[in-house]
Amino acid sequence: MSGNEHDIRQLRGEAELAEFARFPFRVYHDRAAWWPPDLRSEAEFFAGRSQFAAELDLSCWGAFRDGTMVARVGAVINHRYIRHWHEPLGHLAHFEALPGQDEPVEALLERALQWLAERGMKFARSGFAAFLDYPYAIDHYGELPSFLLRGNPDYYHAYFKNAGFETEKGHLDYTAALTPEQLARYEETITRARQSNVTVLSWRQYGFKRAVDAWTDIINESFARHWGWNPVGRDELRPIMAPLEGSAVPELSIVACIGAKPVGAVFSVPDLSSLLARVQAGARLSAERGGGKRGALINLGVLEEARRRGVATAMAARSFLTMASRGMRYAGYTLVLDDNWPSRRTAAALGARVTGNFVTYRKVL
Ligand SMILES: CC(C)(COP(=O)(O)OP(=O)(O)OC[C@H]1O[C@@H](n2cnc3c(N)ncnc32)[C@H](O)[C@@H]1OP(=O)(O)O)[C@@H](O)C(=O)NCCC(=O)NCCS
Repeated sequence: MSGNEHDIRQLRGEAELAEFARFPFRVYHDRAAWWPPDLRSEAEFFAGRSQFAAELDLSCWGAFRDGTMVARVGAVINHRYIRHWHEPLGHLAHFEALPGQDEPVEALLERALQWLAERGMKFARSGFAAFLDYPYAIDHYGELPSFLLRGNPDYYHAYFKNAGFETEKGHLDYTAALTPEQLARYEETITRARQSNVTVLSWRQYGFKRAVDAWTDIINESFARHWGWNPVGRDELRPIMAPLEGSAVPELSIVACIGAKPVGAVFSVPDLSSLLARVQAGARLSAERGGGKRGALINLGVLEEARRRGVATAMAARSFLTMASRGMRYAGYTLVLDDNWPSRRTAAALGARVTGNFVTYRKVL
């Protein structure tokens, strides 16, 4: 094969899936800081052995030049999403590619889209899939993104546009500076909520296992009509969350109750960059991008009956106060849809500002 030829292969079996999982190291190896994949869970996911596997049809694709992988993508059919939204939409997930690979990437995406179309999909999305994939960054190229979010190179966008995709949704990442003035405002927010009978408790105070179930139920109900979401089961989230019981997560994550009834929940994490990010020797991360000083609120939901009463702001305020008491100087409020104004107003009420932007792509098949 000459240097300009490429081939597209479906990847199966342990060795090929391990190569698929390792591929991001080729894209990001010279970054000062990045979040490497968990190789085992990535390969297990595409081998169909994750908590979510029963509802997924999966295939893995690689584009090769001279026998070397130059791009990869997973094609995913999430039957639960399709049932929930009555929309025959498949996903192209975990896409990564080297620069200057226009032809192989176009062929790769076309082949993966064909796999979706052959299985009855009429639309494809790449970017967001609840618990499965995250959108593409459109700024801060080369920097460490917030935990869970992508720090993809800029050339990914041309690859998607050349493959006929359109931007479907914009997403935002917010950051609040945990200044003494801001912390005092958070205390007031919690006091006001208490006056209207809203109690905010950490998952530890509420009971960790009960809190995980309450969070699952609340996000399923409050996100039911949230774009891109699909319900998840208690049995799926329990094993994913169980290892976090001994971490800071149960202190930073919150349940809100009115009387005895849980009406809101927040899942937050501490700064995980020292534990999980790969940082080159001598590289320094700025505090607001991580670097041991930025916690993050990953998700929050409030039941419809309890909205517009300050429940969300009180939960986030409690979480951010705990972050500050543990030495964090910034709090992320992570991944909000551009058009989710209730959430954007909540972020603004918390004194947070937009610090990162992302997109999800869509194509009609
Ligand atoms: C977003 C959500 C958590 C807000 O919960 P909430 O308890 O109603 O929010 P609060 O009462 O604390 O209000 C926070 C701010 O947002 C504003 N706000 C909330 N909902 C609003 C709405 N529907 N329209 C206009 N403003 C709204 C409030 O006025 C308040 O701003 P203010 O302090 O300047 O007055 C809730 O709407 C929800 O669960 N939505 C579905 C799930 C979701 O989108 N989660 C966020 C994902 S990023």
